[in-house]
Amino acid sequence: MAPRENLVGDDGSRVGKKPTKVLKGMPEYFEIREETEQLETDKCPQYLMMNLETSCPFSCKKCAQPGRNREMGQTLSLDERKNILKIAADIGVRELVIIGAGEPTSPKNFKDVVSPVIESTYKEGMGTILFTTAFGINKEQAEFFRDHDVTVLVSLDSLNPNTYRELTWIGKLTRILENIQILRDTYKNTQEILRDGRKLVRLAINVTIQKGNVDELDTVRNFAGDDMQFIANVPMPEGKLRIYRNWSELVGDGNLEIFSRLAAEKSDTGSHSSVAEGTCSYFKRGISIDSDGQFLTCGYASDSAHYLGNVREGLTRQKLLEHYKEMRKKYEEWCQKIRRRPSCPLRDGEYENFIRSLETGIETKE
Ligand SMILES: C[S@@+](CC[C@H](N)C(=O)[O-])C[C@H]1O[C@@H](n2cnc3c(N)ncnc32)[C@H](O)[C@@H]1O
Repeated sequence: MAPRENLVGDDGSRVGKKPTKVLKGMPEYFEIREETEQLETDKCPQYLMMNLETSCPFSCKKCAQPGRNREMGQTLSLDERKNILKIAADIGVRELVIIGAGEPTSPKNFKDVVSPVIESTYKEGMGTILFTTAFGINKEQAEFFRDHDVTVLVSLDSLNPNTYRELTWIGKLTRILENIQILRDTYKNTQEILRDGRKLVRLAINVTIQKGNVDELDTVRNFAGDDMQFIANVPMPEGKLRIYRNWSELVGDGNLEIFSRLAAEKSDTGSHSSVAEGTCSYFKRGISIDSDGQFLTCGYASDSAHYLGNVREGLTRQKLLEHYKEMRKKYEEWCQKIRRRPSCPLRDGEYENFIRSLETGIETKE
C-alpha cells in the first residue's frame, strides 16, 4: 500500500491513488453508476436529511446535538413524513440521511420512530444513510437494514475501552464491537465489484478526530478492513462543542488544522463521507428538515431553522425544488464573498455570516 502521506496535497486534499472502496449512496456511487446526468444536481436534490426525535443513551462530550439545539415545535407525524418522502422521491431524491438527533438503534427508537420511516423510504424507492453508534444493533435490526437498502455508518471514536468510555460516557465497547460484528456478518453478501474495479460496500466506520483518539486513527482504520469504508471527520463547533471548555479539552487551540489534514489523509473519501466537488453533498446536494418540520441548511445547523420556514406551511414539489435552488444560490453567493468554497459551512469561521445571509443577504468580516 502507498504511504498515506503520498495521498495528500499541500492543501490537505486527496491526490494520487484512489481508495478501493465506495460506499453505497454516496455521490461517487451514483457517478460510477453513470447516473450523474440524470441526477441533474443543479436542479434537483439527491439527499433528504431528516432529523428524528430519537433519545440517546450516550452522552458524548463532542455531541453537536443536531435536533436539540433550540426550542422545538411539534414533532412531525409519520403521515407528514410519508408525504415529505413521497414528494422528495417525486423530485428525484435518492437517499434519506438520518444523522440526528439521538441513537436510532435503541429498541424503542428503532421500533416507534426509525423503522417506520425507513420502511416508507424504501417503499418510495429510496435508500437510507443511517448514522449510529451500533448500540442497539441485533440480528433482526441488521437484517431489516440490509433488506431495506440502508447504508450504515457506525460512529466509533476509539477501540480502547477507557478512551471510549471517556468520550461517550456510556462505555460498553465490548457490546458495540459485538454489534458491529453482527452488522458485518449480516451484510457480508451485499458487496459488489463496480465497473471501475472498486468494491461497493454498505457499511462504514466514522471517527470524529479528537485529542483523545488522534493516535488511534490507523488502528481504527485497520479495524474497518475491507468491508467497511473508513471516514475520519473534523469536529464541528456545534452543540456541546460550542462550550469553550469542551472545545479546549477535545480539540484545543491550533489543532484543527492538524485534524483537517489527518482527516483528508486517512479518510477513504479524502474528506467527509458524502464529499463531491469539494463540498459535503448532504448539504450542497440536499434538503434538510428538522424533527419539527423546520427547514435547515443541514441536519446539524439548528440556527438556520429561524430563517427557512416549515414544511407544514404547505409542501409541494415546486416549493421543495425552489427551496433547494435558493439554498444553493445562497451558498454560491457566500463562497464568492469569502473567496473560498468550504467543504462544510458549519466548520467555517464565516459560518455565522452564512446563516445571517439567509435572511439579510451576504455580510463578511473586513
Ligand atoms: C449526532 S450523531 C447521532 C447518531 C448516533 N447517535 C451516532 O453517534 O452515530 C451523528 C454523527 O454526528 C457525529 N458528530 C456528533 N457530534 C459531532 C461534532 N461536534 N463534530 C463532528 N461530528 C460530530 C457523530 O460522530 C456521528 O457520526
